[in-house]
Amino acid sequence: MIPGLALDIYEEADRNAMSDAMDVMVAAFDPIYGEAWTLPQLAGVMMMPGTWLTIAHVDATPLGFALVRSVLDECELLLLAVAPLWRGRGVGETLLRDSLVTARRKSIISMNLEVRATNNAVRLYEKTGFEYVHRRPGYYRGNDGQLYDALSFRLDMRM
Ligand SMILES: CC(C)(COP(=O)(O)OP(=O)(O)OC[C@H]1O[C@@H](n2cnc3c(N)ncnc32)[C@H](O)[C@@H]1OP(=O)(O)O)[C@@H](O)C(=O)NCCC(=O)NCCS
Repeated sequence: MIPGLALDIYEEADRNAMSDAMDVMVAAFDPIYGEAWTLPQLAGVMMMPGTWLTIAHVDATPLGFALVRSVLDECELLLLAVAPLWRGRGVGETLLRDSLVTARRKSIISMNLEVRATNNAVRLYEKTGFEYVHRRPGYYRGNDGQLYDALSFRLDMRM
């Protein structure tokens, strides 16, 4: 674990928090997959009720973030990212587990997500108890035109 690691949760479109998330976004997502969001996309979802953004930081340095949107008693993990320099030290898992704690506090009963089948994040989701739901062949198209399967996962938080 990283000394001084702290998490802050934002339930509204906070300009500084979104700027921190965008710093991580630009560094974290490989452009070949075209998975990174733009600031207007992030701001748009932050305007929707039921969305929360968790920023992991050490002092003023953002290391990673998680973005979750809830509707009634279900939620979806929209994005999870850790800056490359800070990977492999538990930041992603800390963000995900904290998002689950926040979801439970909001009386949410399940978290869903969709991920590229070749993404290492699949290991993290399985480790934290998510169950495979189904595969959509060729669902994502990379910027190079290559198609990638999508896997969807669900965590039933009542268990
Ligand atoms: C996925 C991501 C968030 C993981 O962040 P991280 O801080 O490096 O992850 P952690 O150190 O918390 O790892 C927790 C677990 O995830 C799994 N994991 C993480 N990175 C992995 C990798 N490169 N290969 C295999 N397993 C990996 C492991 O099970 C690990 O547990 P372990 O160390 O006990 O084996 C990070 O790699 C990332 O930002 N990727 C790019 C953005 C992305 O694709 N996000 C997911 C879709 S939105």
